[in-house]
Amino acid sequence: MTTRRTLAIFAVAALAACESKPAAQVDSAATAAATAVAPQSLYDRLGGTTAIASVVDAFVANVAADTRINARFSRVAGDTSAMRQFKQKLVDQVCAGSGGPCTYAGLDMKAAHQGMGLTGADFDAVVEDLVKALDGAGVPQKEKDELLAILGPMRADIVTK
Ligand code: HEM
Repeated sequence: MTTRRTLAIFAVAALAACESKPAAQVDSAATAAATAVAPQSLYDRLGGTTAIASVVDAFVANVAADTRINARFSRVAGDTSAMRQFKQKLVDQVCAGSGGPCTYAGLDMKAAHQGMGLTGADFDAVVEDLVKALDGAGVPQKEKDELLAILGPMRADIVTK
């Protein structure tokens, strides 16, 4: 067998082995494979901004009904515009903290809670109200744990008493 003939046979075999898929199919298969491998951000797994906003709504409703801590929120509770801004800050904070495309432009946690004399019990009550909201939205344990692990370290800046 001549070298040229060997090469020709090899080329035909290689072409036959290669399934002839349109470029678009190859591209989408590659994208699907990359998506399957790349870990989704917590933000995406929580369901993005809309889902986060609805958890924040439920969380704030839980806080408003929670007699252990609701007196603290009298300013925002009595002012629709202040409440809207407060909720937006919470959404931005969770969105940014979980890897989403948001910027949190509010105060840092130390400045935001300065002078409030918040206790560990106040902090735990807020976390409980948040967990209730996450449970109500059907957020899985893994995502709940990841979000709480982001918020947990803020305790040191928020609790001063
Ligand atoms: C992980 C826990 C907490 C987070 C992530 C959090 C987050 C925030 C954020 C983002 C703000 C807005 C800051 C700004 O105005 O720029 C805020 C304000 C505030 N937080 Fe917290 N907070 C937490 C715990 C608590 C606790 C335990 C209390 C009291 C029980 C509390 C009471 C307040 C109050 C009263 C305000 C001011 C609301 C207003 O504008 O009048 N927070 N917090």
